[in-house]
Amino acid sequence: MKKNSRIYVAGHTGLIGSALLRRLKEQSYSNIITRTHKALDLTNQPAVDRFFAKEKPEYVFLAAARVGGIHANKTYPAEFIYQNLMIQTNVLDCALKHKTKKLLNLSSSCIYPKKCKQPMKEEYLFSGDIEETNDAYGMAKLAGIKMCQAYRRQYGANFISAIPANVYGPGDHFDENGHVLAALLGKFHTARKSNKKSVTLWGTGKPKREFLYVDDAADGCLFLMKKYNSAETINLGIGRETSITQLAKLIRSTVGYKGSTSFDTSKPDGNPRRLLDSSRIHALGWQANVSLEDGLQRTYDWYCSQLAVTTK
Ligand SMILES: NC(=O)c1ccc[n+]([C@@H]2O[C@H](COP(=O)([O-])OP(=O)(O)OC[C@H]3O[C@@H](n4cnc5c(N)ncnc54)[C@H](OP(=O)(O)O)[C@@H]3O)[C@@H](O)[C@H]2O)c1
Repeated sequence: MKKNSRIYVAGHTGLIGSALLRRLKEQSYSNIITRTHKALDLTNQPAVDRFFAKEKPEYVFLAAARVGGIHANKTYPAEFIYQNLMIQTNVLDCALKHKTKKLLNLSSSCIYPKKCKQPMKEEYLFSGDIEETNDAYGMAKLAGIKMCQAYRRQYGANFISAIPANVYGPGDHFDENGHVLAALLGKFHTARKSNKKSVTLWGTGKPKREFLYVDDAADGCLFLMKKYNSAETINLGIGRETSITQLAKLIRSTVGYKGSTSFDTSKPDGNPRRLLDSSRIHALGWQANVSLEDGLQRTYDWYCSQLAVTTK
């Protein structure tokens, strides 16, 4: 990928897409192509075709998707499967037709089987039923991986797929529908601001999750775009997990919340562990740089700047 290559970041206003844009600009890539959702609905095949015909992107980061928490996935499964199938079908097919040199398809760790052995190795994909709360979304994501592989097999297209761990950072969604880390940051912040004596968290606090700072995720995507050319899906994680109890402790200290924390054990825990085995990407020479403490601080600073309040 040259500094003046035409690079299309699909979904550049999203969590990962916006970090990709920042990282590409930092590294002096000068020919970055973007379209907002409003300007180009990627579920619209003729519009996507016109866009690719005009812009002829040489490299494509596919970070556009209909994404949401459990509630949204349960309420709108038809929209989740339809939109994600359409987005990836249109983008992949137009990338082939208009001679894109390479495409990175972002997939999701929720496509590993619900009862997957831990840590989750790439070869465990497609070996069991996925979590039913996101099965419509997950099926579309699994199809995206198969589609990249099929286009490679039949047409020799250099389409690769990566599975990042739980990504967090500036640009995240901090309401209760957000992912656990951002939702907790929002919850502790609100509790501190309103002098709430106690914060109650769902479940036992024992489940463990792997958190990847969004700039590291973007860095990993760029690394793969430059170095990885295989049909095999590749995990993108840090290889460390943090329990929800540990996470809550770190967030309390980041936010400066002095009240107590309790756990509502009548609420579900979800999977006990979701750890990616990222030894393949680590062996290629990529590692994450940002510690959880540092990433939390940066995320909280950004969150406060958005709320226009101070962290003091
Ligand atoms: N966040 C994570 O923890 C995580 C972890 C692993 C993998 N991933 C994967 O990474 C990808 C990006 O995730 P994210 O968290 O960055 O999502 P996000 O913050 O929700 O961003 C999604 C982006 O896609 C755009 N988009 C949605 N539907 C579109 C459409 N029909 N046409 C054009 N643009 C559309 C959105 O624009 P609007 O907002 O304007 O609709 C937004 O820019 C997804 O494939 C996801 O599965 C995410």
